[in-house]
Amino acid sequence: MAIDHAEVTPERVAAARRDGDPLAGDLAKAANVLYHDWEADSYDRKWSIDYDQRCIDYARDRFVAVAGTDGWPYRRALEIGCGTGFFLLNLKQAGVLDEGHVTDLSPGMVAAAERNAAGLGFTVSGRVADAESIPYPDASFDLVVGHAVLHHIPDLPVAFREALRVLKPGGRFMFAGEPTRYGDAVARRLSRATWAATTTVTRLPGLRSRWSRPRAELAESSRAAALEAVVDLHTFDPAELAALVRDAGAVGVRTVTEELTAAWFGWPVRTFECAVNPDRLGLGWAMFAYRSWQRLSALDRALSRFVPARFYYNVLITGRRPADR
Ligand SMILES: C[S@@+](CC[C@H](N)C(=O)[O-])C[C@H]1O[C@@H](n2cnc3c(N)ncnc32)[C@H](O)[C@@H]1O
Repeated sequence: MAIDHAEVTPERVAAARRDGDPLAGDLAKAANVLYHDWEADSYDRKWSIDYDQRCIDYARDRFVAVAGTDGWPYRRALEIGCGTGFFLLNLKQAGVLDEGHVTDLSPGMVAAAERNAAGLGFTVSGRVADAESIPYPDASFDLVVGHAVLHHIPDLPVAFREALRVLKPGGRFMFAGEPTRYGDAVARRLSRATWAATTTVTRLPGLRSRWSRPRAELAESSRAAALEAVVDLHTFDPAELAALVRDAGAVGVRTVTEELTAAWFGWPVRTFECAVNPDRLGLGWAMFAYRSWQRLSALDRALSRFVPARFYYNVLITGRRPADR
């Protein structure tokens, strides 16, 4: 049903969810559109998204970690919840896929993804679409991907049935960047503490003029954070997510988890970057943050022999539509 955007306040969305209101799913989707339309033009800057070797490697490595290199390049691929196109466009640059189609619930994000694709010289078709009802015929794609989208979708069993429907028999899906239950709880605590400490310290006389963000920008960040809190609908236990996906009809399902100490480092860093004057942080800072994250990620891979998968921050999942259905 159509929701009047004036009704979509963080409080209303949270109350609908808490009270089991039948409109909770539609309100969450409307909040997603508001929040992501609002973020679309500044999203790449905010999340250090680019289409350079760093981001190509990041996307390719996530794909290989869970789905390997069999079948490259996938001929026809669809991304759901594409945002500004970060995942599919970088997978395309990495040689994982040929023909790309991007969809998102937010019109602003689809427009940004098309702009980024054109900037790279790619022809990519974009559509505004809900992952719970994908506007493509059955068996349209060899590959369906998504990054940091599953935790926003109200009805995941429906979304996975849709992803399997639009895949050709034997086709693969792969999703990455989804928060685990434990990892998310730790990351949120660390981020809250970093925000409080940074905004307090950068208000001190002597630091304020150079390090503090303008008040209006901090207020905008706080409003965005309030809406963000109600668009994040799920965190995952990897085994439960795999069971949900098998129940939707997938075969060959596999999950991998990543980032333990890397997330304990990465979330405070990201929050710090949002809280201070961005002019103080140059390329040197960005490279320090990225290289530290890489080193800690390598440590986390070594630790995965001892630390249970559910303690890691990110879950990645892959599987296939059965070849005979
Ligand atoms: C956290 S952003 C990630 C964007 C991009 N995949 C990336 O990794 O940069 C989540 C995206 O999912 C989209 N989204 C949320 N709910 C959706 C739904 N039900 N169907 C399709 N897209 C959705 C949002 O509009 C947003 O662009």
